[in-house]
Amino acid sequence: MSLTKMLFRTKPISPSLKDVNLKRCLTGFDLAMLGVGAIIGAGIFVLTGVVAATQAGPAIIFSYVVAGCACAFSAFAYAELASSIGGCGSAYGYSFAGLGELIAWIIGWDLLLEYSLVASTVAIGWSGYVNNALTAMGLPLPESLTVNPFEGGIVDLPAVLIVAFISILLIIGVKESVKVNRILVFVKLTAIAIFIGIAIFHFNPAQNWRPFLPFGWEGVMGGAAIMFFAYIGFDAVSTAAEEAVNPQRDLPKGIIYSLVICTLLYMVVAGLLTGIMPYTQLNVSSPIAYSLLTLGYKFGGAVVSIGAIFGLTTVVLVFCYGLTRIFLAMSRDGLLPPVLAQVNKKRQTPVRIIVFSGVVIAIIAGFTPINEVASLANIGTLAAFTVVCLGVIILRYTKPDMPRPFKTPFSPLIPILGVLFCLYLMSNLSALAWQAFAIWTIVGLIIYFSYGRHNSILAKKNT
Ligand code: ALA
Repeated sequence: MSLTKMLFRTKPISPSLKDVNLKRCLTGFDLAMLGVGAIIGAGIFVLTGVVAATQAGPAIIFSYVVAGCACAFSAFAYAELASSIGGCGSAYGYSFAGLGELIAWIIGWDLLLEYSLVASTVAIGWSGYVNNALTAMGLPLPESLTVNPFEGGIVDLPAVLIVAFISILLIIGVKESVKVNRILVFVKLTAIAIFIGIAIFHFNPAQNWRPFLPFGWEGVMGGAAIMFFAYIGFDAVSTAAEEAVNPQRDLPKGIIYSLVICTLLYMVVAGLLTGIMPYTQLNVSSPIAYSLLTLGYKFGGAVVSIGAIFGLTTVVLVFCYGLTRIFLAMSRDGLLPPVLAQVNKKRQTPVRIIVFSGVVIAIIAGFTPINEVASLANIGTLAAFTVVCLGVIILRYTKPDMPRPFKTPFSPLIPILGVLFCLYLMSNLSALAWQAFAIWTIVGLIIYFSYGRHNSILAKKNT
């Protein structure tokens, strides 16, 4: 076989997913809750304040709109491919069916970066919130156990513990994990509702929205590239394809509904937050709780802090879950060692992969200052979104007769806009994030050419 043919060999499209050995138990509602669980987290609870104070001012609402557009266009593309191609592994699986093994590997490799970075940075954010809460209760942990060795401590212990807890939950079973997720999502939505309920009575745009655009449009766009982080997660719904009761019907719904709910909440929260106090005062690690405390609502501030802790927990949960399912798909295809791909018969969960991923994420979260390069997760995700949008356009030409239970409206306009928005946001990210992304991609290509290319199931079938 020629090299080009080999690199672009594709897997058959198999929406019926006959080789499934995970437990099919997730309903449409579970999928939407997984989406909301993954989306609302550090973005709104932490980053909104920094970005409003230092990059966009009250016009952070526009940053949310721009990032939301990139996500909305990509969400349609995800929904189409999830309904027509299906299969485990999200964008990795879609690329494999439509664009070939090499592109699939690159996207899968990017997704591993996205999911592990989001899980570990949000675990670090979780640790910060829990430490603040413990300190407020007069039970502070010693500093050496809350700070990584690069910043003068020994280990960020709470970050390690939350990852360990989530890994155990994932081993116990997906239905159990989803139940916990549902309760935690309810708490975080309640906390946001309380914030909205209080803030609405203190909304004073005449005073706080002047100036509205203190850093100009450049600030808005730079802010959008960062606030994109707040939306990451709706794509995680697609990693649940093999455990959904009716993936072709429910995945598109889960993806689109969760994104719509979160986008609306983000607009309202960002507008209110900048409308109740001057944006210059928002550069703190827990801006939403802080704003309520400043207004004199101690109880409200405490409830929002609890909501944030629960909210960050669901983000870590869904991203750890998604990481293990993408890992599983890549190992099953032979691009990563298949020995990891075993599913435990009793629990019907991929225990080896969960343990392996849990250890890696716990090490990153506990011992490195990875939150410094969190925007690297944005680049990896934006690259995956770009390929998913391109995949819709290409497959409409190469496989026009493929059944598409959900079709992206106004195609190819919407997927083209998705590609353009994603590339634009990528161009606004820092040089450091780009350098790290280039290194990650080179390492990925070395692994593919030295291992995956020879060991993939498609390579073995063809010999
Ligand atoms: N969207 C997720 C968050 O904001 C990653 O934490």
